[in-house]
Amino acid sequence: MQQRSIIVLGISGSLRTESINTRLLSSIGGMMPTGMELRMYQGLASLPHFSPDLDGDEAQVDKAVREWREELRAADACVICTPEYARGVPGSLKNALDWVVSSGEFVSMPTAVVSASPHPDGGSTALHSLTMTLKMMSAAIPEEAAMAVPFASRIMGDDGSVTDANTESSLRQLVRSLLHTIPN
Ligand SMILES: Cc1cc2nc3c(=O)[nH]c(=O)nc-3n(C[C@H](O)[C@H](O)[C@H](O)COP(=O)(O)O)c2cc1C
Repeated sequence: MQQRSIIVLGISGSLRTESINTRLLSSIGGMMPTGMELRMYQGLASLPHFSPDLDGDEAQVDKAVREWREELRAADACVICTPEYARGVPGSLKNALDWVVSSGEFVSMPTAVVSASPHPDGGSTALHSLTMTLKMMSAAIPEEAAMAVPFASRIMGDDGSVTDANTESSLRQLVRSLLHTIPN
């Protein structure tokens, strides 16, 4: 019997068309072994601003929010790549996460987190903050699956490939760690 693919939901914290983080996410997808498939979440910009007043009965919740939760429930794991904005997590990504605090889709979800920035510290403050938020939501973040990528604009080829051997090696390790965290 043919086994179904492992579905990894890729979430970019950047809405920018030429985003380094979105390109990096695609590169990570290309490092996944056969049987592991990256699906890009495309709905970040469609989510309404979170308010507990708009949450509650699932049938009444905004369609974009229902779809966000459904995509998470259909996934075996997640990879989040995000920029750092003003030493924090971009508002649209944090908004998306706020929508799933109570509904619990991240509980025990194997999750890899990456921050990529042209700056020398690679957006590590945003990475730390994002990791804290996900841990609060009981996501399963393996030790080698949280990574800041400094000088990110320099280590990406025009085709989106990662040109720095050490970064590529760490990203491949991140994929392996994520895979090992997914229950059989
Ligand atoms: C409003 C704004 C704030 C930023 N703040 C930071 C920051 O605090 N730390 C950092 O490393 N880069 C910061 N940057 C630079 C981003 O890392 C850079 O624009 C990066 O390319 C954004 O990621 P993206 O290419 O995936 O969109 C900021 C950029 C913008 C537009």
